[in-house]
Amino acid sequence: MAERAALITGGSGEIGLAIARVLGEEGYGLTLSARRPEKLEEAAQPLRDDGFEVLTVPANMTSEEGVVAVFDAHKERYGRLDALVNNAGMGVGAPVEEIQTKFLDMQLDVNLRALILGTREGVPLLREAGAEHGKALIVNTASLAGKAGPGWLTVYGATKAAVINFTEGIEHELAKSGIQCTALAPGFVDTAMADFIKESIGEPLIQPSDLGEAVRFLLRTSPSCHVPEIVLTRPGEGYVSTG
Ligand SMILES: NC(=O)c1ccc[n+]([C@@H]2O[C@H](COP(=O)([O-])OP(=O)(O)OC[C@H]3O[C@@H](n4cnc5c(N)ncnc54)[C@H](OP(=O)(O)O)[C@@H]3O)[C@@H](O)[C@H]2O)c1
Repeated sequence: MAERAALITGGSGEIGLAIARVLGEEGYGLTLSARRPEKLEEAAQPLRDDGFEVLTVPANMTSEEGVVAVFDAHKERYGRLDALVNNAGMGVGAPVEEIQTKFLDMQLDVNLRALILGTREGVPLLREAGAEHGKALIVNTASLAGKAGPGWLTVYGATKAAVINFTEGIEHELAKSGIQCTALAPGFVDTAMADFIKESIGEPLIQPSDLGEAVRFLLRTSPSCHVPEIVLTRPGEGYVSTG
C-alpha cells in the first residue's frame, strides 16, 4: 500500500483528475469521490491502468451523510490522510433578480457546506500526518471569481470568496499541527464547466494539468514554506474574469 494517502472530491472532473494524477505520481494512494458512479469509474480507470491505487466512493456531497461516508470509506481503506483536496463544485449563473433558491442552495451546499464538513471530517487524520511529517495539506479549489466578484455568477463568486476566507482561517488554526492550507483560484479552466464560455473567450484556457502542477509545487515546498493561495489567470487577464 502507498505510504501516503490523498482524498480528492469532485474526482471525476478534469481538475480533480489532473490533481489526482499528480498525487498518484508523487506516491499517494488515492480516493476519488463524485456523485455519478459510472463517470467516476470511467475517470479512475486510466489512473488504475497507470498503476495508481484508487478507491472510488460515489456520494452526493449536498448531504452530510454523503460527506461523512466518503471520509469513512477513505479511512477504512488507507487509515491515514496526508492531502485533502476539496474540489467538488458547481456553478449556476443568473441575473440577481432571477436567482432561484434551488440553485442558490445547491451552490452553497456543494461549494461551501460540503467543503467545511469535509474539512471537519478530514482534520483528525490530517493532524496525525502533520505530526508525522510536518506537511499535511488541505487544498481547496476556489476560483478567480472568489477574488473579484463577477456579475451573473454572483452566487458562485460568493461561495468561492468564502472558500478563500475559510482556507485562510483554518490555516491560522491548524498551522501548528503541521497542516498547510491553500486555496487554488483559477480563471476559466478547459473543462466541461467552462464549455459555455470557451467560444466567446476565443483563446486557449488554463489547462487542468496547470492545477495539477500547482499541487505538485505545494507538495515539494518545504514544511517551513506555506503558500496561502495560488491565483492562475490567462496571460494579461488580471483579476477580472469569472472562472
Ligand atoms: N472549470 C473552470 O473554469 C473552473 C474555474 C475555477 C474554479 N473551478 C472549480 O474547480 C472545481 C472542479 O471543477 P471542474 O472544472 O473540474 O468541473 P467539472 O468537470 O464539472 O467537475 C466537477 C466535479 O464535482 C463533482 N460534483 C458536482 N456536484 C457534486 C455533488 N453534489 N456531490 C458530489 N460531487 C459533485 C462532479 O461529479 P458529479 O457531477 O458526478 O457529481 C465532478 O467530479 C470546482 O470546484 C469548480 O468550481 C473551475
